[in-house]
Amino acid sequence: MCGIVGYAGRRPGKPVILEGLRRLEYRGYDSAGIALIEDGGIDVVRAVGNLDCLVAAAGEDPSSAVVGLGHTRWATHGRPSEENAHPHADCSGRIQLVLNGIIENYQELREDLSEAGHTLSSETDAEVVVHLIEDQIGRGLAEAVRAVVPRLDGHFAFCAIHADEPDIVVGTRRQAPLVVGVGDGEMFFASAIPAFLKHTRRTVVLDDGDVVTLRAGGAEYTDVAGQPLLREETEVTWDADAAERGGFETFMLKEINEQPAALRDTLAGRLSEDGCADLSEVGMGDEFLRRLRRIFIVACGTSYHAGLVVSYAIEQLARVPVQIDVASEFRYRQPVFDPDTLVIGITQSGETADTLAAMRLAREAGSPVLALTNIMGSQATREADHVLFTRAGLEIGVAATKTHTAQVAALLLLALRLAWARGAQPEAELTRLGRELRAIPENLEQLFSWGQDSVKEIAGRYHDERFFLYLGRGMGFAVCLEGALKLKEISYIPTEAYAAGEMKHGPIALLDEKSPVVIVADDSPVFPKLVSNIEEVRARGADVIAVATEGNERITELSRDVLWVPATDHHLAPLLTVVPLQLLAYHIAGIKGLNVDQPRNLAKTVTVE
Ligand code: F6R
Repeated sequence: MCGIVGYAGRRPGKPVILEGLRRLEYRGYDSAGIALIEDGGIDVVRAVGNLDCLVAAAGEDPSSAVVGLGHTRWATHGRPSEENAHPHADCSGRIQLVLNGIIENYQELREDLSEAGHTLSSETDAEVVVHLIEDQIGRGLAEAVRAVVPRLDGHFAFCAIHADEPDIVVGTRRQAPLVVGVGDGEMFFASAIPAFLKHTRRTVVLDDGDVVTLRAGGAEYTDVAGQPLLREETEVTWDADAAERGGFETFMLKEINEQPAALRDTLAGRLSEDGCADLSEVGMGDEFLRRLRRIFIVACGTSYHAGLVVSYAIEQLARVPVQIDVASEFRYRQPVFDPDTLVIGITQSGETADTLAAMRLAREAGSPVLALTNIMGSQATREADHVLFTRAGLEIGVAATKTHTAQVAALLLLALRLAWARGAQPEAELTRLGRELRAIPENLEQLFSWGQDSVKEIAGRYHDERFFLYLGRGMGFAVCLEGALKLKEISYIPTEAYAAGEMKHGPIALLDEKSPVVIVADDSPVFPKLVSNIEEVRARGADVIAVATEGNERITELSRDVLWVPATDHHLAPLLTVVPLQLLAYHIAGIKGLNVDQPRNLAKTVTVE
């Protein structure tokens, strides 16, 4: 996720901004830049790679500039390059801007700006904003920002400076983080508190739509209409390490909580307000999608589970046969390829050796390959004909959480587009699903707003158990595989996940009064079947922990414990039902005092075969 730093003070800003960017490195980035108001103009330096590259490019020379911006970029629109790195300039170079987030209508704004004579020099969505500001700059920077914000669709935070107003930085946000740091004779903007924690603990958290003008002596807050606002300061009590984790006790918990934002970013610009999925950026047109006769999905671990979840949706909605395999099996089993079989390689890191090998094999045999990855410029992007990016931001916890749900969301977009292109479902049904998918980030926010008391209580009651069984059907079975993997990898408790209908063919022998059984039983067409499975489990005296849809009264009669999720269409439910399972695993491991961010024997990226 990108990082923003803005500074208006009385001491040289260059080292303060560079230090601020260093404190945001943990968010992940592929390029960086800095802009300083100096000698009546703005000096800008941008560099691809880490901050040392930027520092080298910026040189040792001291600068007397007291106002400036800095940015670390995690590429989403446009590859990592110096041109795409922020800050971005207007045509005159006298306005500079750094932005986090996604401008969904940037294509049409870009066309309008080009027609009006602006020269855009990057592939980014961010650059359009600074040119829009340029058109309004006669009113002053703050007023120009207020005029531009209503024209932008999407979610973003940005800060801008203007050479003609050398003592201010103006910033605003909509559904993306931006905080103000209040120093002694100096003020800061940042996308996260660690950027200025060394200088001040006094912060102001901004609301959506706030437009803020910072000067060395203080801040002026208004809404987009220019009405003055009062914003309260709070004192941060975290230490620097806790601040990097956004106040959460671990990166894993932070990343679990970041899922609404990760999904919002992944869906942005790819799903219109009326629910129509658009993946034209991937270069697989409807004609190509219509021609496909089969899909192979290959991946490892949690990415495999994301593929398995959506394999059901692709078959059900688009009516294309899907075969899914773990990459380490697929690559050695001599699969049959043809040009009408799309091979989807899913790898959040883009560097997993088995998945890359499977993709290479398919490509050499003449099948088109789509990579689904979270990392721009990763090896997977070079082993594929088409690339679809999740936009989950860097994941630091070894156990994948937000990248998993982002993969599921991206693949659901593909399922919807495939079904649309092939006329496999009525369009009205597909747009209804698309609109429900758009609402999933809010559904998740609702889920988090309910708090975690019941998960913690269940974790407290069962953390000493020696074995957990997970049961589900259809997509719920795939969610169980993921929940069981999370628990075993961070708590070291053995787990099994079974398709619930298979229970009577063996695993039922495991059950007694001591076995907790986790059942994913959201409202789906297979719910009545799951009720029978729950009865079987209860008859053996085992405790049932159900994950179920809010308001389902039948489940409360049947289960000892229920973890609720908001209602949604059953094709989308895995985006919600997996979250209580992530939390359950997290809290069980936490009670056991284990290091969830770095479980034993595991590495974040598996690059050896
Ligand atoms: C489990 C986990 C792993 C990864 C697997 C594939 O929490 O993170 O199972 O999912 O190693 O990694 P990627 O997606 O990077 O190919």
